[in-house]
Amino acid sequence: MNAGILGIGRCLPETKLTNFELEQRMDTSDEWIRTMTGIEERRIAGDEQDTSHMAREAAQKAIDDAGIDPTEIGLILVATVTGDQPFPSMSCVIQQEIGAVNAAAMDLSAACAGFMYGVVTAKQFIDSDVYKYVLVVGVEKLSKITNWEDRNTAVLFGDGAGAVVIGKVSEGRGILSFELGADGSGGKHLYQDDYLVMNGREVFKFAVRQMGESAVNVIEKAGLDKEDVDFLIPHQANIRIMEASRQRLELPVEKMSKTIHKYGNTSAASIPISLVEDVEEGRIKDDDVIVMVGFGGGLTWGAIAMRWGK
Ligand code: UT7
Repeated sequence: MNAGILGIGRCLPETKLTNFELEQRMDTSDEWIRTMTGIEERRIAGDEQDTSHMAREAAQKAIDDAGIDPTEIGLILVATVTGDQPFPSMSCVIQQEIGAVNAAAMDLSAACAGFMYGVVTAKQFIDSDVYKYVLVVGVEKLSKITNWEDRNTAVLFGDGAGAVVIGKVSEGRGILSFELGADGSGGKHLYQDDYLVMNGREVFKFAVRQMGESAVNVIEKAGLDKEDVDFLIPHQANIRIMEASRQRLELPVEKMSKTIHKYGNTSAASIPISLVEDVEEGRIKDDDVIVMVGFGGGLTWGAIAMRWGK
């Protein structure tokens, strides 16, 4: 039996920040943002809603959805680069809040690819029968490290959280293959120095190449062909990057997840936030083959092919 996803949940802050509002604050336009990125609005967490609050809400929903008791969780992995504080970790904070008293807890830093790293790490502990359930959360409050004076980055990001419970699923379902990677020489293109700093052009080129390649690699590793793929969830960074990976897999537009117009780039949270929406709205059904692929600062990347269902 493979490791797979038993429960899903997410948290999106209520407050929307539209492109039109950004037009009032900086030298940009709704047209530029929409055409160049696909983003129309993003969610911004207020002072009262820090990273751990969003993580806890998403985690609680995933646990309820999985129908397990928090005390059964063996490990909590929180992927984030925007924790409330450097330590204690977000995973320790939520461990206490959700009552997962038997869980080990650690945070994981792989920027926008963090959720992929988290799920793949969880899979190892499930496959080796060390833990029965692992909780993986991708969460970011990027608004607190955004330089609102820098139009190159300020228009791109949003806040939110997504969570999954990983455990054993029925025969044939679950994670079929994965790929993780990193290229530290590209660290200079996307980093935090008080605020987030990015060389958009370089990250764009890397992302277009890597997303397509990783997606193809996991399909091959799973012993599948492109035609077997029912749905693609790319990291929601830029619609042009997402489109490039969709075209590489030769998938029709309705077979690719798209939430970027509503939530912007939520980094480690973007893939699980999209997953929840696609499952709830019926675009992902039991036994569908789905490919998730992400990339981010580090530089890092990760992809997973899985057959959906418990
Ligand atoms: O999760 C990973 C995080 N990062 C990413 O995914 C980002 C990847 N990169 C990108 O998505 C794209 O590089 C951007 C959308 C950020 C930018 O697109 P681009 O095609 O690389 O444009 P550019 O940075 O070369 O800028 C083109 C023009 C420049 O003006 P000039 O020099 O041609 O006159 C920029 O100053 O667009 C200008 N520009 C803007 N104009 C209006 C840059 N940002 C804005 C803005 N509004 N917000």
